[in-house]
Amino acid sequence: MFQPTMYILCLASLWALALVAAGQDVSIRAVEKAFSDANLPANLDIVFKPTALLEVSLPQATGPPITLHAGIHVPRNDTAGPPTFHAVGPDLGRGPFVATVDPDAPTPQAPTSAQIRHFLGGNFFNHNGLLVNTTPAISEFRQPAPPAGSDPHRYTFLLFRQSAEFVTQTLVNSTTPVQLFNISQFAAAVDLGNPIAGTFMLVAPDPTT
Ligand SMILES: *[C@@H]1O[C@H](CO)[C@@H](O)[C@H](O)[C@H]1NC(C)=O
Ligand SMILES: *[C@@H]1O[C@H](CO)[C@@H](O)[C@H](O)[C@H]1NC(C)=O
Ligand SMILES: *[C@@H]1O[C@H](CO)[C@@H](O)[C@H](O)[C@H]1NC(C)=O
Repeated sequence: MFQPTMYILCLASLWALALVAAGQDVSIRAVEKAFSDANLPANLDIVFKPTALLEVSLPQATGPPITLHAGIHVPRNDTAGPPTFHAVGPDLGRGPFVATVDPDAPTPQAPTSAQIRHFLGGNFFNHNGLLVNTTPAISEFRQPAPPAGSDPHRYTFLLFRQSAEFVTQTLVNSTTPVQLFNISQFAAAVDLGNPIAGTFMLVAPDPTT
């Protein structure tokens, strides 16, 4: 028997799937909710009231890049990066600053080496939203590598306004251990304030490891 209601529901959910598959975050409120649902503000000790969107795209060996939306699952082997960043929003200013951290290392249940610093870079210039880094990153991007048997980790990207102190900071450089990083402590120390945008991906161990 033909069931028109079912048909419409089915089309609607396919359309929703297509929107999700197409990529990036489109709603600041949805990002804020996804962070809150994932307990990230509490686990990172940050106040997360975003006023902009941060689009993070991971280039792929073949095919188009994967653009994150908050909470997307990405296969580990598709996360080699390095990512590119776009910011969308009012008043982004000049030279913002991006940090990527993993609060779930080695496992979300016992994150004894968290946070792991996966990227730390500043001096980005805003070219119509594309953030172009004009200097080497402080910590270049490290590919996620959650250990075999772990639940997925929350790899979290945060965008801050760059402070004057950031340019002269000596707390972190390319040889500083990436373990036991603390983004809220770092942000406070170099006067970054609260993040203005962010997103995150969930990455599980590669099934062949
Ligand atoms: C991921 O990459 C590694 C190293 O190239 C490879 O051995 C492994 O089979 C890949 N895993 C999947 C699921 O393709
Ligand atoms: C990095 O920081 C450490 C500790 O402050 C310092 O000893 C080292 O010389 C710095 N390395 C570079 C490349 O600046
Ligand atoms: C990070 O630093 C904040 C203080 O800024 C502290 O409250 C928090 O417990 C620290 N987090 C970790 C994981 O050490």
